[in-house]
Amino acid sequence: MASSSALFALISSVLILAVFLQSDCDLALRLLPFNPIRKFERKVVWITGASSGIGASLAKAFSKSGAIVVISARREKQLEEVSESCSHNGQKPFSLVLDVTDYDSHQKAVQQIISKFGRIDILVMNAGRSQRALALDTPLSETQELMNLNFLSYVALAKHVIPEMSKMGGGQVIGMPLYYAIYN
Ligand SMILES: NC(=O)c1ccc[n+]([C@@H]2O[C@H](COP(=O)([O-])OP(=O)(O)OC[C@H]3O[C@@H](n4cnc5c(N)ncnc54)[C@H](OP(=O)(O)O)[C@@H]3O)[C@@H](O)[C@H]2O)c1
Repeated sequence: MASSSALFALISSVLILAVFLQSDCDLALRLLPFNPIRKFERKVVWITGASSGIGASLAKAFSKSGAIVVISARREKQLEEVSESCSHNGQKPFSLVLDVTDYDSHQKAVQQIISKFGRIDILVMNAGRSQRALALDTPLSETQELMNLNFLSYVALAKHVIPEMSKMGGGQVIGMPLYYAIYN
């Protein structure tokens, strides 16, 4: 009796350890009965600013979760490298070169995605740059450039994407803007 309890305890411990090791860093998500990561399966997710940093990492995470991923940025070669590194179950993200500050090109980019995948479920607007400088020392022209990239481009792109999402019953738009203003 004692030996069967010990065997049960040993098997349980091995199973718990296996689940833990397989869970990446997020045991809570792994153990939920309806894994929320699954909700991205077959969703069309467009990430701007995906040639490096946070955008590239998001592209990997969404690809791994089974989403249909579109990645955008200005640097074509880097985008291709990110796309290759995201390859999952034979699928890799579709690369779409786009300078988000070229507002006139937004509609064409949106239509390219709609014609290829039929819809956009999630738009992650991540293209941008940060600037660490004192606001009072920064020329207005630079501030304007930053606002064009980190703010206006988001509004302009969303204006084309949201109507397409509405036609398909809805979607999600996420912005990752960053604007520092330090006064002293
Ligand atoms: N890192 C942080 O601590 C932090 C904190 C809060 C918010 N954020 C925001 O999160 C975003 C990503 O940050 P990150 O640290 O991952 O920066 P990053 O590595 O420099 O990535 C920025 C991305 O934006 C793209 N990009 C820049 N200008 C663009 C333009 N005109 N058109 C299209 N794409 C453009 C870049 O690609 P190309 O050069 O190939 O175009 C690149 O893929 C930024 O918007 C940043 O402001 C960052």
